[in-house]
Amino acid sequence: MKRSLITLALTLSVAAPAMADLALATSKNCMACHAVDKKLVGPAYKDVAAKYAGQKDAVDKLAAKIVKGGSGVWGPVPMPANAQVSDAEAKKLAAWVLTQK
Ligand code: HEC
Repeated sequence: MKRSLITLALTLSVAAPAMADLALATSKNCMACHAVDKKLVGPAYKDVAAKYAGQKDAVDKLAAKIVKGGSGVWGPVPMPANAQVSDAEAKKLAAWVLTQK
């Protein structure tokens, strides 16, 4: 009993932040153009994570792009600016995107 409670607590503490960030991405409309594991209008988040793996400034770079939008990295289709996203939220989203596999 005790062990299953500990397992449950561990599972929640690992899964909850990731779910919260998916909820944030959904509420900010990101998932209208993106999916974690396949290309929609924009690149799959796991492809983004693979591209920037090991780059120290990736969170800041992607956070700025999320807020301002831009094009030319994944193709000609631009990502529009996401003015509904604060700088702090953009950093959270960028960090979350970079953990996808
Ligand atoms: C209208 C469609 C659309 C929406 C909404 C959208 N994106 Fe994008 N996103 C794109 C496209 C298209 C690209 C590819 C841009 C490029 O090639 O430079 C992209 C690229 C990205 C990248 C990679 C940037 C790079 O330079 O490699 C990240 C990270 C990203 N989006 C996150 C988000 C997040 C987080 C949100 C929600 C706040 C969001 N996107 C909302 C279409 C969208």
